[in-house]
Amino acid sequence: MQSKMPPQAYIDQAWFDRERDLLFKPLWQFIGLKVMLDKHNSFIARTLFGIPIVVQNFRGELRAFENVCPHRQNPIQVEPQGVRPLFCGYHGWSFDSEGATKIPHEDTLYRYPQEERACIHLRRFALEVVGNLVFVNLSDNPLPIKQQFGAAMLASMKASSEAYDTEVITTTYDAKFNWKLIYENLRDSHHPRYLHARTLYQDVKFDAKIDEFGLEATQRLRQEDLTDRGRALALMRSFSFGGRDAPMESPPNEFWHPLVERYRDQDWYYNWLAYPNLHIASSNGGHSFTIEHHIPVGPGRTEFVVYFVTAKKKRPYATSAAVLHAHTLGADKILREDIEVMEQIQRTLYEGARPAHLGDYEFINAGIEHWYMSLMEGKFAL
Ligand code: FES
Ligand SMILES: [Fe+2]
Repeated sequence: MQSKMPPQAYIDQAWFDRERDLLFKPLWQFIGLKVMLDKHNSFIARTLFGIPIVVQNFRGELRAFENVCPHRQNPIQVEPQGVRPLFCGYHGWSFDSEGATKIPHEDTLYRYPQEERACIHLRRFALEVVGNLVFVNLSDNPLPIKQQFGAAMLASMKASSEAYDTEVITTTYDAKFNWKLIYENLRDSHHPRYLHARTLYQDVKFDAKIDEFGLEATQRLRQEDLTDRGRALALMRSFSFGGRDAPMESPPNEFWHPLVERYRDQDWYYNWLAYPNLHIASSNGGHSFTIEHHIPVGPGRTEFVVYFVTAKKKRPYATSAAVLHAHTLGADKILREDIEVMEQIQRTLYEGARPAHLGDYEFINAGIEHWYMSLMEGKFAL
């Protein structure tokens, strides 16, 4: 079937800006792991769609603020993560859990009129914690997170992420492609046979097959005039799902596996796809997890933040950092195979390029694109 996505959706700046307003601003967005925010003053700072955000722990309470000092707009936290009070290094202003400001030498040097002083505080964002996954919402009137992810998906993300250990390694890729190419790729279970033939496919034989029932539903959906918000939200919830994906060829067997509290006890590849831009996988039957966050930066640029974590350690062991490091190297090979193709596709796209042709096995993407185009055409709003 012919794709409904025009090339502009991948290459055009005005399209990207509209997508930020219509899709990302109303939705809950992943921002980091709770295990990285476990101490007083621990923080995570990220820029989502051009808005700098800090999530900070205040004596156990997590708060999300705009990471911009109201004085001269210096970023308050400069590192992507760490442990440090919410304090601006430029002129020493500090901020409490309500976003209120303490200004040294206020009376002698600043002398703000009362009215102006009342406006000087940090902009706060809504925050939700699902197990170990921290989400923020940039809108003034956030939709309940249950309307974004259904109850089953929330429960599954919660249970699996609660298995995470506290030791985490992160790595960031600056990828030159539109963020949608990667989610389309993640819902394409046929490509590993070719693209990852010498890596991932050696261990897991992903089995692409056509779900005739799902395909039929997609074909009906693609005829539908999608104007009802409730219907659109229900469809969006169906784009996020997760759990067991494919059985493993041979049971995973690494020296450190007995040292962690494995998530479940099945030799399966686990996969969670949280629409629009979060992907979590466990490629060794719940012994460790890779959390991929695809942050849209521009129409042709995506920041790829990847977190590696094992399941909870039963007790500390000397080589745990090396285990995580080995993980990053293993995942790097597979990720680079994907990134290389996405970047090739991005370079090939141009205004006026002919549409893609989806096979029936790609029915999930075919459904999502109809939903997405209806949103972008303003038929419904989130
Ligand atoms: S810019 Fe932050 S205290 Fe001056
Ligand atoms: Fe892939």
